[in-house]
Amino acid sequence: MKTIAVLTSGGDAPGMNAAIRAVVRTALDKNFTVMGIERGYSGLINGEIISMDRSSVADIIQRGGTILKTARSEEFKTESGRKKAVQMLKKFGVEGLVVIGGDGSFRGARELSKMSVATIGIPGTIDNDLPYTDFTIGFDTAVNTVLDAINKLRDTSTSHERVSVVEVMGRNCGDIALYSGLAGGAENIILPEIGYDRDKLCGDVLKAKNKGKLHNLIVLAEGIGGAEALARKIQDITGIEARATKLGHIQRGGSPSCMDRILASRFGYRAVELLENGDSSRVVGIKDGKIIDLDIDEALNVPRHFDDKLYRIANALA
Ligand code: F6P
Repeated sequence: MKTIAVLTSGGDAPGMNAAIRAVVRTALDKNFTVMGIERGYSGLINGEIISMDRSSVADIIQRGGTILKTARSEEFKTESGRKKAVQMLKKFGVEGLVVIGGDGSFRGARELSKMSVATIGIPGTIDNDLPYTDFTIGFDTAVNTVLDAINKLRDTSTSHERVSVVEVMGRNCGDIALYSGLAGGAENIILPEIGYDRDKLCGDVLKAKNKGKLHNLIVLAEGIGGAEALARKIQDITGIEARATKLGHIQRGGSPSCMDRILASRFGYRAVELLENGDSSRVVGIKDGKIIDLDIDEALNVPRHFDDKLYRIANALA
């Protein structure tokens, strides 16, 4: 194999640039020719392919987003779209592909590997919703962004003696809410994996107020409802003023944390090693601090394991 390419796909995540840098520089050191595909699978179909050298990834390790841009492609979900993508890879002489993205991007990578393109996936999503790996690139930075917001909300909630409901991202995965809620000392963390009883929640809010608590911070995962509606209900039922904050896409931006930069660098390095060894249809991840790789199919079928110990700790400390 002489030429490899890298693309980012799906929602961007802080640390994707660090992963692109690691892939490009590791591959160049191993004497591969390296291409960058812009706008994910959509750009691949359209031939938006550029050559990469060491300097094309200079000064990006600290930058959020992705210099290659990203997209969600409907055309790639069709067989004819995927055929166009493979033809494009052939045209540019690309034999190996590194896909940085989440669940949907990995499903695309799996299809390409069935069409004889050596493909390796790197998990990049703030959601941390790929159960085969302990962490995905971008999760740590997103959690720190939420924490910063929680700290600020706590100041104003305490001054006004209000309830504050903070809605965080994560699709159907509650990890961003769980980690930021525990680290931010939230009174309540509401997760899709657990569900909640609204009347009990309101009862707890009232009890806390009666005990003299000046604020009540509730972290709500987007996969279980909206902050606006919940805050309104709490105010109606308890009579305590409540405000909602939806953090939204702020969670996707910003300079990647140290942990995300290192994770991205390790993942990128391993992904190129796998291509060099002639592997295909694999994804890299991290388990108990060690970098791992496994078959894409296997990885996509790992059942989700909810960290109920962490949830119990958060409740015990609230
Ligand atoms: O998958 C990352 C993510 O930010 C989710 O947490 C969120 O539900 C979704 O993407 C938002 O997607 P979009 O950027 O298309 O609005």
